[in-house]
Amino acid sequence: MPFTIAIDGPAASGKGTIARALAHHFGFAHLDTGLLYRAVGAKGGDPVAAARSLTPDDLARDDLRSARAGQAASRVAAIPEVRAALVEFQRRFARSEPGAVLDGRDIGTVICPDAELKLYVTANDEIRARRRAKELGADEAQMLRELRERDARDVARAVAPMRPAPDAVLLDTSEMSIDDAVTRAITCAKEAG
Ligand code: C5P
Repeated sequence: MPFTIAIDGPAASGKGTIARALAHHFGFAHLDTGLLYRAVGAKGGDPVAAARSLTPDDLARDDLRSARAGQAASRVAAIPEVRAALVEFQRRFARSEPGAVLDGRDIGTVICPDAELKLYVTANDEIRARRRAKELGADEAQMLRELRERDARDVARAVAPMRPAPDAVLLDTSEMSIDDAVTRAITCAKEAG
């Protein structure tokens, strides 16, 4: 039986870094599910058709990490048919042997409610804005506005809103170094195994 780790949380909370580190540590496959929504948003045209015809090439575009792509992603991510089109791929990925780490917004609640470990990673929004501004070389105040706008949309949408699964372990990284956060996550995974 493969071991699945579901990691959810808002942008720049540290969930992507933690997901990559866990996958590396345990030799698991890793899927950044935000990339799927970013690719759908960036493709343009009808988002439902884009989601249904997503190819590996779409995921390899080099403009997907921008703040603009993040905003476009969160708009298409509110469309139920877009989400539905991406479910099967994510669930299949989650069954990778010997295990898989998926990070996103609805992994513990919708995609993999039976995951062996669910983590919900958060951090204070000003700290997240600072991290993301540094990463993208962008203005911190503008980043804060964008993150708040995106979080509000992700939390308020009717389908698969961003929220912790009832049995998720909460990890607040505001005052934590990335190494400490990764160590905590590895400990949680060992305890869950
Ligand atoms: O994680 P990332 O910032 O790349 O995600 C971009 C957007 O994609 C999020 O703001 C959210 O709207 C959407 N998303 C989602 N469900 C996921 C992953 C991402 O709705 N599992």
